[in-house]
Amino acid sequence: MSLKQVLHIIDGKETASVSGRTFESINPATGQPWASVAYGESEDVNRAVESGWRAFESGTWSRMPATDQAQRMRTVSRLIRERADYLAELETKDTGKPLTAAKGDILGAASVFEYFSQIPDHVLGTTYPSDPGYFTYSRREPYGVVGGIAPWNFPFMLVVWKTAGPLAVGNSVVLKMAEQTPVTTTEFAKICLEAGIPPGVVNVVHGDGETGAALAAHPRVPKITFTGSTEVGRSIIRSSADAIKSVHLELGGKSPNIIFADANLDQAMAGSLFTSFFNSGQICTTGSRLLVAEAIAEEFIEKFHQRAKKIVVGDPMQSNTQLGPLISQVQLQRVQNYVKVGKEAGARVLWEGTPTKIPGHDQGYFFQPTIFTQVHPDMRIAQEEIFGPVLSVMTFKDDEEAIRIANNTIYGLAATVWTTNLSRAFTMADRLDAGIVWTNCPHYLKWNVPLEGHRTSGLGEDLGLESIKTFTKLKVNYINYGGHQMNWG
Ligand code: NAI
Ligand code: MG
Repeated sequence: MSLKQVLHIIDGKETASVSGRTFESINPATGQPWASVAYGESEDVNRAVESGWRAFESGTWSRMPATDQAQRMRTVSRLIRERADYLAELETKDTGKPLTAAKGDILGAASVFEYFSQIPDHVLGTTYPSDPGYFTYSRREPYGVVGGIAPWNFPFMLVVWKTAGPLAVGNSVVLKMAEQTPVTTTEFAKICLEAGIPPGVVNVVHGDGETGAALAAHPRVPKITFTGSTEVGRSIIRSSADAIKSVHLELGGKSPNIIFADANLDQAMAGSLFTSFFNSGQICTTGSRLLVAEAIAEEFIEKFHQRAKKIVVGDPMQSNTQLGPLISQVQLQRVQNYVKVGKEAGARVLWEGTPTKIPGHDQGYFFQPTIFTQVHPDMRIAQEEIFGPVLSVMTFKDDEEAIRIANNTIYGLAATVWTTNLSRAFTMADRLDAGIVWTNCPHYLKWNVPLEGHRTSGLGEDLGLESIKTFTKLKVNYINYGGHQMNWG
């Protein structure tokens, strides 16, 4: 079978690498390559960055009237919606996620772009009380070229997150999306062109960590927006030092999902299955630590186990499949290794997911949910981001202990609480150190609401009107139209 050919997008054109190098994208459900992708090196990154600056300086987008920008951004959103089925199929082949979930991601991404299309008209400045004869005001100005780097768990959603905010305030972008899932990124850039976003505004360079590092360290990219592991986030901060770049980071998590005895336990059960295992646990906000009140622990955990066993792991193209394969052989090995680590540390395996063979998909990276109980909060499986369907269950005696265990990691991305007690809900919301606290609604996100990781989970805000600040720099102007006369020297 011939492979789908995927190229960079530079200057509005599909472009091969200067070196001619390519790499293959693997379909995780089959373990077979299905696309051949241009591999970018620093020369390709340079070209994309120069293309971004040419477009920025020409003003075709950066100085386009805001209402026209908004209209073109709405067109992007409409085209994404019209092609949702096609894009979902590509997304499923690249990620292995079930087709229904992929379609949900594509439609969600269309709404994100639609939300951001409202922003160009609302990039407001401030006026300040001024001395007589002075007028003082501030403006938010685009950086110029923003570099976007993202992982493979939500490729289309993330390419939209990395683009919509920067574009809405007038920047160009250079995107280096994940090497495991490059295909829909090029499709997205083509949709932007078709919608009338001028050539050079949205550039794509495919490649791996080296390509990403070249973009992150590029002296002519003053802003980087990165989503991915905390470790790479640290290296991006380091490589930003010479140019004193502004970096926006959304990093790892080890989010607690806390069940109090007063919770609506049916809802807590369904929501806990969802936050533990949805997308095979490959989400930064996965509730990978289940904390259950001692009073209800035994019964809750037993029911959870029975329900988890019924989750359908299978061919992502089948409509009844709930979990597809993990993203790659490397990830499968990482996850299996964590299961080993958990056992060696003395946690109890309530249910062990094994590499699963799906008929007709012998080479796929399938893995069933795995549940550890009797996990000590200091064990590696309770501290490190596994990024797979491996759950660590702990119990707590009272609210103070729940808070202590919940806050006891280096991360602070998200936390979920299940309770019907109003006082407890607000108290937990106060005391949990996480950028998002969900009470009775894990993974719930609205595009007009900002988010920011605490501690090692991130730096800076995304989404909502706050993203205007994230993707612009401040300028203040003092205008002397009849104030002081200069009489120095
Ligand atoms: P990663 O953080 O290495 O990769 C994310 C993106 O960064 C990819 O586009 C990659 O090519 C790029 N990249 C890698 N090294 C870079 C560098 N030095 N400079 C600039 N860009 C670079 O994540 P990876 O390797 O896919 O997954 C490894 C582990 O990281 C996962 O098992 C998981 O624990 C964690 N992870 C967490 C995510 C989250 O959202 N919390 C997302 C992806 C991974
Ligand atoms: Mg792939």
